[in-house]
Amino acid sequence: MLAKLEKKLEEIDQQQLLSFWNQLNENERKTLQHDIESLDTDRIIKLRKILSEKDKQENLYQPGNFKPADVDTLPKTAQEKEKRRAAFRIGEKAIKEGTVGAILVAGGQGTRLGFHGPKGVFPVGPVTDKSLYQYFLERLLALERRYSTRIPLYVMTSEKNHHETKEFFLEHDYFGKERNSVVFFQQGMLPTFDENGKIFLEEKYKISKAPDGHGGLLNALKENTLFEDMKNRGLENLFYFQVDNILVQICDPAFIGMHLQKDADLSAKTVYKSDPFEKLGNIGIINDTYVTVEYTELSEEEKKARDQEGKLVFGQGSIAVHVFSRKFLQRFASDELELPYHIAHKKIIHIDDGGKKIEPDKPNGYKLEQFIFDTFPIAERVVVMETERDKDFSPIKNAEGTDSPQTARQHLNNYFGSWLDRAGYELERDQEGNVQHQIEVSPLYALDEEEFISKIPKDLQIKDKMIFE
Ligand code: UTP
Repeated sequence: MLAKLEKKLEEIDQQQLLSFWNQLNENERKTLQHDIESLDTDRIIKLRKILSEKDKQENLYQPGNFKPADVDTLPKTAQEKEKRRAAFRIGEKAIKEGTVGAILVAGGQGTRLGFHGPKGVFPVGPVTDKSLYQYFLERLLALERRYSTRIPLYVMTSEKNHHETKEFFLEHDYFGKERNSVVFFQQGMLPTFDENGKIFLEEKYKISKAPDGHGGLLNALKENTLFEDMKNRGLENLFYFQVDNILVQICDPAFIGMHLQKDADLSAKTVYKSDPFEKLGNIGIINDTYVTVEYTELSEEEKKARDQEGKLVFGQGSIAVHVFSRKFLQRFASDELELPYHIAHKKIIHIDDGGKKIEPDKPNGYKLEQFIFDTFPIAERVVVMETERDKDFSPIKNAEGTDSPQTARQHLNNYFGSWLDRAGYELERDQEGNVQHQIEVSPLYALDEEEFISKIPKDLQIKDKMIFE
């Protein structure tokens, strides 16, 4: 058996993975054997080629060749408002008919947040410490009740958090959602490489691997025969969201409606950037196709460019909320279409040649990832719809500061506070307009402002902490 492993590794120039074989016990050998056997030789060869040619990689984006997307901006006139209302009604109809499902990508490692456990388990409710998962599931359940329908949810996890995620759902009885309407599946893992293209060991008996990016969704759907599952459930369009955005309006009917009106392959939501350097992807057009240019790539000049009205030319930032048509996604099930791999230079914990565990303080190797927005160039019909940041976007990325749990809680307080404003109550605010009360409204109590106002108790007292559930 050892000879077989050696031969395989020789083919891909990775013999170092067996360096500590003689020191391993039987179980450890089994683990390493399994890891080596599951390496896809062709893929490793391909990934190493990508790494070795990384300096030659041609960038599609060049300053000057990128044009802003055609965006359906926030409605201002009565006519524009009516257009969104009409889209809303179309979206509602599709939800009612049961042709809309949801995909939640939650396989990331959440390194910046530094929370031990899947990010979706993170407590974020300002009053109850409700988790991100509970919030999302309650919203789906509330939609199902409102429209007397079923909205299947596909949750993508990774080897790093699959078990804990499923356990959390089980422990909470799927937050009331019907079990067979939630499908968990794991994305792929790719080995991490050192700067010479050698695969790292995480332990003497274990290959170092990382999730293959949110674009790994396509392979994972294919491998788990989930396109068939979607088809069997009658799903034609899938609302895509990420686990870190607490404000995301899951299955927003207006967004789904716009997507349907254009019979789009994919749709994307954007917000107008808070400043020219906000770290959001830029959706635009290069050579007649839609692409996302990452904030790290866009030239400083183009970041700052303004039009005649003083608005940023590339001011629309992607919030990674999409609708995909199932048929469009399914095109990636064929072997001919594959998303590109992006290379990230990272600090990778590993075992060195002498068998010592190294925790580097500067980047020492590479992770490869696929990104979901690389599906854009293949799409023929695309909708880009601007949304209001304070109603749709508050990501939790960092442990502190911007895009952190603190900002997310404040945004929830402000969001629910705006409902109380509309209902005619006076709230305390700081100089920046942040609501000073802790307010939490379960989606099961009210999905939106209108429902909230219709239910609000007549004798409501404004307090420091308020909960509606
Ligand atoms: P991020 O790019 O913010 O990565 O993911 P992350 O892993 O959550 O956090 P950091 O960068 O390690 O701090 C955006 C969304 O894509 C999902 C994440 O779970 C999150 O919902 N994602 C990311 C995956 O599902 N798989 C991946 O391989 C990467």
